[in-house]
Amino acid sequence: MAPIDYNERIPNNVSLTENRRLLRALEDWQPKFLEWWHDMGPEGFQSRDVYLRTAVSVDAKGWAQFGYVKMPEYRWGIFLAEPETDRRINFGDHQGQPAWQDVPGEYRGTLRRLIVTQGDTEPASVEQQRHLGRTCPSLYDLRNLFQVNVEEGRHLWAMVYLLDAHFGRDGREESEALLQRRSGDHDKPRILGAFNEKTPDWLSFFMFCFFTDRDGKYQLASLAESGFDPLSRTCRFMLTEEAHHMFVGESGVGRIVQRACELMREHTTDDVRKHGGIDLPTMQKYINFHCSVSLDLFGSEVSTNAANFYTAGLKGRFEETKKADDHRLKDGVYPVIGLDGEKIVTRQEAALVSLNERLRDDYVADCQRGVNRWNEIIKSHGVDFTLTLPHRAFRRAIGAFAEVRVSPDGRIISQAEWDARHRDWLPTEEDEAYVGSLMKPVTERGKMAGWIAPPARGVNSQAEDFEYVRLS
Ligand SMILES: [Fe+2]
Ligand SMILES: [Fe+2]
Repeated sequence: MAPIDYNERIPNNVSLTENRRLLRALEDWQPKFLEWWHDMGPEGFQSRDVYLRTAVSVDAKGWAQFGYVKMPEYRWGIFLAEPETDRRINFGDHQGQPAWQDVPGEYRGTLRRLIVTQGDTEPASVEQQRHLGRTCPSLYDLRNLFQVNVEEGRHLWAMVYLLDAHFGRDGREESEALLQRRSGDHDKPRILGAFNEKTPDWLSFFMFCFFTDRDGKYQLASLAESGFDPLSRTCRFMLTEEAHHMFVGESGVGRIVQRACELMREHTTDDVRKHGGIDLPTMQKYINFHCSVSLDLFGSEVSTNAANFYTAGLKGRFEETKKADDHRLKDGVYPVIGLDGEKIVTRQEAALVSLNERLRDDYVADCQRGVNRWNEIIKSHGVDFTLTLPHRAFRRAIGAFAEVRVSPDGRIISQAEWDARHRDWLPTEEDEAYVGSLMKPVTERGKMAGWIAPPARGVNSQAEDFEYVRLS
């Protein structure tokens, strides 16, 4: 396996210099990427030194490299996980055949769409988060935001590499289009709904990292099972970066919860807004919003597309190879919730068409583990409050529940009840205005905004007052 070569204009471990055509395509794309980064990347901090980590190899030790970098000089590159010798296709109709090193002609269009859809989310989140730096709660958080942003930029590189290397002219056109769509733009929006939502404040940012980046984890994990080996290896390395984004989300929300509990104890009141905190009922509303938006990203409960991706060997299940079944699923069943008139029911559906729902199940279980850890924080302060995930039928725009109104506890309700209650369940303009009012930048070393607790430890074990971003 080639080590990562940082002397190259495009750092990579795929021996790029040996493929002149591909190298030229990527070198042609690089300035366009940088132009996009300047236009749509973090606003106001492009010339600052940021304490970032850079991958130096794709093994576990490869993350040890920390240092000050100006973001436009970040070494975005192309890193694939180590190849597995004699890797096979592990599921679907081609099970047992050698994994593909080239795109199989019959799946070209499908595979390209899968890669473009994943790729589109990467620059989208950078665009969504571009104004957040101006209101950071601390230098520590500012640095974490930028780390997430440069890595999403690298994920875009990862997908563009696949498109340019394996899809010829179509791929190059898609690579350009990835830089042209804009999150939230009326005329040229990003492909998926959640990636056109606003991320107006840091609470939304942490929720996004927890819920929406976690969708990314599950999508990448199923693509990491792909029979198309370059996609599998690309996604396996991306997953190591994604883990950090979810850490930022979970710990960010956890620190806000902690601060709320501290203020409740200190002032013996539930009304922590009076003391500049974010109250737990408001946290619950943000959970309801971000969870429901992210659940939609998994698609319809019953999906022939998902079945086709699987049968073709393109997209597997989460931890496919750890599952002990036939990996073809031709005659299995799977429990899927759906509507029966006015009732929510569970039906046994054919396993193959239920793959979206199965992935959503894995995702929900993972989210619940994080919520449990937040509840531990609440309990440890002796506060009587439990955060919960909304029922998965709540506020859905895609799938079986898109047409009905459902309460967070999973009752089908009338439009009238929805109208009367939704302000109790979702952030209102007042809630957003209150959260917005807290968003004042704190950029002194070692200082922290009053609505969030300090982190348990510094990045790379740095001291509390470490200068994560040099602003002067
Ligand atoms: Fe990503
Ligand atoms: Fe991410």
